[in-house]
Amino acid sequence: MLNRISDIEKEIELVLVRNTEDLENFRLKYLSKKGIISDLFEDFRNVAPADKKEVGQLLNGLKQAALDKYNSLRSELADTDDSLSGIDNTRPGYPFATGSRHPISIVRNEIIDIFSRIGFTVSEGPEIEDDDHVFTKLNFAAEHPARDMQDTFYISRISAEDSNPGDILLRTHTSSVQVRVMQGQKPPIRTISPGRVFRNEAISARAHCIFHQVEGLYIDENVSFADLRQTLLFFAREMFGQDAQIRLRPSYFPFTEPSAEMDVSCSICAGKGCNVCKYTGWLEILGCGMVHPNVLEACGIDSRKYTGFAFGMGIERQAMLKYHVNDLRLYFENDIRFLEQFRSAF
Ligand code: DAH
Repeated sequence: MLNRISDIEKEIELVLVRNTEDLENFRLKYLSKKGIISDLFEDFRNVAPADKKEVGQLLNGLKQAALDKYNSLRSELADTDDSLSGIDNTRPGYPFATGSRHPISIVRNEIIDIFSRIGFTVSEGPEIEDDDHVFTKLNFAAEHPARDMQDTFYISRISAEDSNPGDILLRTHTSSVQVRVMQGQKPPIRTISPGRVFRNEAISARAHCIFHQVEGLYIDENVSFADLRQTLLFFAREMFGQDAQIRLRPSYFPFTEPSAEMDVSCSICAGKGCNVCKYTGWLEILGCGMVHPNVLEACGIDSRKYTGFAFGMGIERQAMLKYHVNDLRLYFENDIRFLEQFRSAF
């Protein structure tokens, strides 16, 4: 009996456990009711009375050593195994609310993605601008109606009657960024400029005083109207599907000559006619043209050597088409029920 006790004591000292299974096996082998130590306590009955005291003490010592070993192994394991640390890993986690991007951001990012695939960089300019960048350098005549207080939010005006290149205002279009890019870079230039613009309009379902545009500018030697058309066709098909058609209608902008407006075939009714396209099958999405020589010269670019095209598109209109939104005001109200409907890779 004494030998058995000391053998088991040595054996216990040498036990190693790697996981909870080993630990449980240790418990079953030595400490359970059917374990080795219990058996020894059974045998204890047969020990001669004279030896009982000594054997009893050793047996209790063995049991204590086994228990101590068990507890220390258990706490060692708890450091690496969460099931022993009191943390219940099977509990469901706290729900994590994922946000969603604003539809205007989604469409803007998609436009940037499409143009970046054909070599356009992104440039930005200030929202608070001067008359020079928004109007004068873009060939707007001094008396052009866009310069009227009725259309433009002025921050400070040099004269109450006449507009002046030094007047400070909120930009009414992103074409002002064209001017800044041309002033700061030499051709070839191939860039788009997304941003917010401001106009003094009454707010309704179809008009807002703040909206978003993306301006495009491409200047190099021998850039032609055909290049413009092909670039816009590529864009329309990437944005609205490979079946999309475009149509260019003659128009007028002071900063382009010739100028055009571009319609895209209505993606809602596939050109058949619906209330979104007002039964025409077409939707106007942008203005464009060949950059006016006066604009090139005003921005320090030699108009005999270089030509270029420019375009300006509204983002809201395209987001309305893509998501069938029928009221511009929804974009600005921050109503979570509206915003959480938009999920996108962009
Ligand atoms: N700036 C014009 C607008 O806000 C849009 C535009 C038209 C931009 C023709 C251009 C362009 O670059 O070439 O209505």
